[in-house]
Amino acid sequence: MKSLDSFDRVSLGVFPTPIQRLNNLSALLKTNLYIKRDDLTGLGLGGNKVRKLEFLLADARKQGARLVFTTGGAQSNHAMLTAAAAAKLGMRAILILKKRGVTACLGNQLLEKLMGTEVIFMDTDDYADIYAEMDRIGAKTGAPYYKIPCGGSNALGTLGYVDCAREIAAQGLRFDHIVCAEGSGGTMAGLALGAKLFLPETRVHGMMVDTDPFDEITPRLMREAAALLEADAAVSVADFTLRDQCGPGYAIPSEAGNAAVALMAAQEGVFLDPVYTGKAFAGLVAMAKEGAFAPEENVLFVHTGGAGGLFAVM
Ligand SMILES: Cc1ncc(COP(=O)(O)O)c(C=O)c1O
Repeated sequence: MKSLDSFDRVSLGVFPTPIQRLNNLSALLKTNLYIKRDDLTGLGLGGNKVRKLEFLLADARKQGARLVFTTGGAQSNHAMLTAAAAAKLGMRAILILKKRGVTACLGNQLLEKLMGTEVIFMDTDDYADIYAEMDRIGAKTGAPYYKIPCGGSNALGTLGYVDCAREIAAQGLRFDHIVCAEGSGGTMAGLALGAKLFLPETRVHGMMVDTDPFDEITPRLMREAAALLEADAAVSVADFTLRDQCGPGYAIPSEAGNAAVALMAAQEGVFLDPVYTGKAFAGLVAMAKEGAFAPEENVLFVHTGGAGGLFAVM
């Protein structure tokens, strides 16, 4: 297997992110609960995409691109962080976002305005239209450009979370369960593959906040990332569990999700978000109440960020 360190990377974040025990919630939920603070990755307002972008933007640079495109919903955390990373690296970012959700100058839109990011809204439900528009604009520049898929969830981006699993292993505490949000799949797939490679005793649970077929997407991304690593990992759906936490729809807050945001804030002074981490933590709370975690087990919630959503969507 190739070492993760053999891949090109740009330095964008501050790692390792802390792992903290959630003492009050542990008592309340009768579960040994810890949080991995990937909301503190050190670029913009933090979040999971920083790990993926370290690999993706190194690849963009290697290919000679100074212009990078990406996409997502109107309040995409991934798109905002791509713009922040591009700013830091002296690259140009163009975000072509779906004209869906909150397009007003709030949350991530406000942050993009502050960065002077070029944002184009497209009135489409189909990402194929958006990738075609990237090619149209990119070709006109006559220079190399780089397209990052929605959420940074391709094989290379997924390596960011394989590396996070390696980081968790090096931090020394043993976890029986890891819980994270699943939106485009790379975070969950990276953690699930990373657990196979570095944390073989750990179960990874993905909390689905969208309606895509994650039972297909997750193992596909795991296999593609394993192929990049030349890792001999027999991937199957038995490597992880999935739970539907989408509620009324992607980027539409759910009652349980908002209650989980408030619970975490009131008990621990940590802010989740209404689109991803609140819904994911609501899934963890439900699992705890259903008795999914034994009293002696350690559970790690990966806080993947999303602060911008608090000021636009909630
Ligand atoms: C805050 C936050 N958490 C979790 C996710 C889900 O990660 P992934 O897209 O890798 O499934 C995202 C994705 O955009 C996100 O912005």
